[in-house]
Amino acid sequence: MKIGILGTGDVGRVLGEGFTALGHEVKIGSRDPQKAEVKEWLKKVGTKASAGTFSEAAAFGDIAVLATSWTGTESAIRLAGPQNLAGKVVMDATNPLDFSAGTPRLSVGHVDSAGEKVQGWLPQSKVVKAFNHVGNAHFIKPQFKDGPPTMFICGNDGGAKKTVTGLLETFGWSVIDIGGIEGSRLLEPLAMLWILYGFRTNTWSHAFKLLRK
Ligand SMILES: NC(=O)c1ccc[n+]([C@@H]2O[C@H](COP(=O)([O-])OP(=O)(O)OC[C@H]3O[C@@H](n4cnc5c(N)ncnc54)[C@H](OP(=O)(O)O)[C@@H]3O)[C@@H](O)[C@H]2O)c1
Repeated sequence: MKIGILGTGDVGRVLGEGFTALGHEVKIGSRDPQKAEVKEWLKKVGTKASAGTFSEAAAFGDIAVLATSWTGTESAIRLAGPQNLAGKVVMDATNPLDFSAGTPRLSVGHVDSAGEKVQGWLPQSKVVKAFNHVGNAHFIKPQFKDGPPTMFICGNDGGAKKTVTGLLETFGWSVIDIGGIEGSRLLEPLAMLWILYGFRTNTWSHAFKLLRK
């Protein structure tokens, strides 16, 4: 599969490497695809990866990953061109974090969410929230002594969620679909819980798991 990744931060780079390790082809998108950290990353990841503009990465992917800072997300989508993502699955890893007070807090919530805003900016795409409530160090083949953690996902298109579930399972996740994209109103605060627990304990080796009897 061809994966277009919008964003060259830790999330984009880690997922890009993970997808190439599984045999997928990746194009990572940036406003500056020539920048040093992208060149370094390409050297490390090898020939299954390439870099381009946001628009080139969006056009390249059979599916796309959105991995941009929240304040840059609408602009990145505009640069990517919603038409390049029309009809495609878009995995949205973003969290609407506001860092202005130091410790991050959510800038959107309760009655709206980043996931719903992204779906609104990409009305012809099938947005699936995923990867937002765990640190990037655990994205690929998460190793926990209590077994695979849970990745909660949500989105409006059942087929898209099936595709994302398949990809997540190849990465080693147990997946739970919590419904439509408005479920992002719950998954983005869940990311805050993950982050604040990390700050309180100064540990970053946790993930969520839903237990059942
Ligand atoms: N870090 C984690 O472990 C983690 C885990 C789960 C979810 N998340 C969420 O995933 C997203 C990505 O996080 P990250 O830490 O990988 O990276 P980040 O530093 O939050 O974002 C980096 C990306 O945002 C783009 N960007 C910033 N301002 C922009 C603008 N004005 N217009 C267009 N693009 C802009 C940058 O583009 P250029 O390449 O052009 O500079 C870059 O590719 C965030 O929403 C974060 O909350 C992070």
